[in-house]
Amino acid sequence: MLKYAMIGGGPGAFVGEVHRTALALNGQAKLVAGCFSRDLEKTRTLGAELGVAEDRLYATPEELSRLEAGDIDFAVVVTSNEAHYPNVKACLENGIHVMCDKPFTHTSAQAEELVELARDRGVFLGVSYTYAGYPMVRQMREMILRGDIGAVRFINCEYPQGWLAEMLETTGHIQAEWRADPVRSGGTLSLGDVGSHIEYLVPHVTGLKVTRLAARLDSLVEGRLLDDNGTILTEYDTGARGMYWYSQAATGMVNGLKIRVFGETGGLEWFQEDPDILHHMPLGESARKIRRGTPDLTPGAMAYSHTPPGHPEGWLLAFANIYTSFCNTLVDGEAVDFPTGEDGVRGVRFMEVCLESSKNDTAWIDMT
Ligand SMILES: NC(=O)c1ccc[n+]([C@@H]2O[C@H](COP(=O)([O-])OP(=O)(O)OC[C@H]3O[C@@H](n4cnc5c(N)ncnc54)[C@H](O)[C@@H]3O)[C@@H](O)[C@H]2O)c1
Repeated sequence: MLKYAMIGGGPGAFVGEVHRTALALNGQAKLVAGCFSRDLEKTRTLGAELGVAEDRLYATPEELSRLEAGDIDFAVVVTSNEAHYPNVKACLENGIHVMCDKPFTHTSAQAEELVELARDRGVFLGVSYTYAGYPMVRQMREMILRGDIGAVRFINCEYPQGWLAEMLETTGHIQAEWRADPVRSGGTLSLGDVGSHIEYLVPHVTGLKVTRLAARLDSLVEGRLLDDNGTILTEYDTGARGMYWYSQAATGMVNGLKIRVFGETGGLEWFQEDPDILHHMPLGESARKIRRGTPDLTPGAMAYSHTPPGHPEGWLLAFANIYTSFCNTLVDGEAVDFPTGEDGVRGVRFMEVCLESSKNDTAWIDMT
């Protein structure tokens, strides 16, 4: 059993509990230490609930990193965005492997520094882009890589949510408040929050690299300081083209991440609200549904599939799958397939280029 510490994920926090549940489902690691909040009393209250020993609950992430180095196998950083960089850095400086949530850091310079630091210290660094953990996303990736739809021509990826279709950030809503604050979120609201998932997912499933893009970031809700909606045109290293749309002001939408990839001989479509199905549209034939759990899945999809077909799997198991790859990496000492710090760097760079493009009237800008 590996041992991990958590930084962030305090009482009332959203995603920290999801990580803890995913790690419990994964079954390879046990929570043994924490600095769940900036407020030590809150850390102590939650730590007691979670069964963490009192002397392993810390006032600051720096203290945790210093005193737990050597006693834990990895740390999970699930704070609001502004605290990713200093906390990941503290862990890496003490030789601790880290899984950090997205968006990785505020700037690509910070992200590059952390990747360099991890390399120097010989530790693994992951960024939890959740959607890579879905079996049918792996199926999509492996089908594209083995040529089932031919050369990719066009990618359409969208991620609309509607929970910020009103000014939630002025109502005391914990999650909305820091996400909509330019200083804490890192200069974007929804691009960092949900657009970042699109940015990771497309190269992950297609193997293509964005070479240039043109972005328009909007603030649809009056009074909002940052983007809550955006459209991005992309070009890839193969000449393929793409179109992304992300939103958190798409009234009525819940978590509508959808990716469609069109190649010379077929198309593929995956929708996260119906995650066990991958639609395959071969050229000149009827479309078919490929179901998670069936025996003809690709090896990667099989490895991430847990329950029989018809017994739905979802988000928590996708998170658990990311941790399976990460924990296997720590056990074997060799990188298995999980989203890395390098992916995090590319993600932050993508956001910077989108912001620059949008400020310049949606100018085309190179990603290099
Ligand atoms: N991968 C995903 O699908 C996914 C989903 C949701 C959120 N996220 C990311 O997870 C992170 C957290 O989001 P959330 O919605 O859970 O936020 P949240 O506001 O609900 O929780 C953040 C927690 O971090 C704690 N915290 C902040 N600074 C700290 C510090 N210096 N030391 C210790 N604790 C500190 C806060 O007290 C709080 O408990 C964000 O980066 C977000 O983008 C990822």
